[in-house]
Amino acid sequence: MKFKIAKLPGDGIGPEVVEQAVKVLNAIAQKYGHEFEYSFGLVGAHAIDETGDPFPKETLQICMDADAVLFGAIGHPKFDNDPKAKVRPEQVLLAMRKQLGLFANIRPISTFQSLIHKSPLRRDLVEGADFVVVRELTGGIYFGDPRGRTEDGNTAFDSMVYRKYEVERITKLAFEYARKRGKRLTAVDKANVLASSRLWRETVQEMAPQYPDIELDYMFVDNAAMQIIQWPKRFDVIVTGNMFGDILSDEASVITGSLGLLPSASIGVHTGVYEPVHGSYPQAAGKDIANPLATVLSAAMLLELSLDLVDEAKAVRAAVDASLQTGFATEDIDKENAKKTSEVGDWLAEYILKA
Ligand code: IPM
Ligand code: MG
Repeated sequence: MKFKIAKLPGDGIGPEVVEQAVKVLNAIAQKYGHEFEYSFGLVGAHAIDETGDPFPKETLQICMDADAVLFGAIGHPKFDNDPKAKVRPEQVLLAMRKQLGLFANIRPISTFQSLIHKSPLRRDLVEGADFVVVRELTGGIYFGDPRGRTEDGNTAFDSMVYRKYEVERITKLAFEYARKRGKRLTAVDKANVLASSRLWRETVQEMAPQYPDIELDYMFVDNAAMQIIQWPKRFDVIVTGNMFGDILSDEASVITGSLGLLPSASIGVHTGVYEPVHGSYPQAAGKDIANPLATVLSAAMLLELSLDLVDEAKAVRAAVDASLQTGFATEDIDKENAKKTSEVGDWLAEYILKA
């Protein structure tokens, strides 16, 4: 089959890791008889330098016209050290989520046997942990009105606003995701304090009877933050609002000890966006040392969720597993025998073609 993929490499190590995912996708295309056509879009600091806009109109159009978006990373230190900068590369993420209607962010957290020793947690706690954070991505305090600052500058405010339909669509997606996995869903909120969380919990309760096969429980976000560390294996699918999900998904991403391996998907109304969880890692940019596996695994999610190519996604994951088992890996995983970013990409593509 023929598919259009928008390629948005962005800043820092984005371009080099995306290139490896493209090698892998091309190997899949060759092996399974598909055709992937790529169109390049400018985003982030690069786009600011060239057009003044971190998410130019042309890039949005390229995304709209594609079947899926493969995204690298955005961010540049020159913006981090300038809190007054009017245009920031991160704005692209918020603009892209809103304009493409990406209301769900999916971050799977799974462990790799050969990397468990890198976890900050004890082996017995993390071994076998396997859960997914489903975060609402276009509502809540990130987008609520009113927001701003009083004229004297001494008071600032944001609003956590949720509408019922926003809670319903993310909850439906999370229930369905749980159905494809371990059939357990944990709804995380702060209903003991926040009105928006009470609407959230009420809505989940109303929907629960439609999913009698799913074991549902509720947790306050502070407790959830604790349980993710204390007993990560208790979770299967977590569904939560935008800001809680931002915080919990970062917390969850480090317990496996392999941030360089974690993929994500943002899906919703228009084209889905697939990107590694790690950032732009500017210190490593252009050095061919960054771990491309998170982006490669994001490409696997792209195959599965946007193109419905389930076997192809499995083939990509199998190649990643094989590379880790063989120890063919970048320096973050194995300092002594470190392989280059591009070598790992070549290895994976070759593995897929030979499998
Ligand atoms: C993320 C990031 C973004 C967010 C920032 C960079 C705007 O932390 O994707 O999790 O807070 O959503
Ligand atoms: Mg975050």
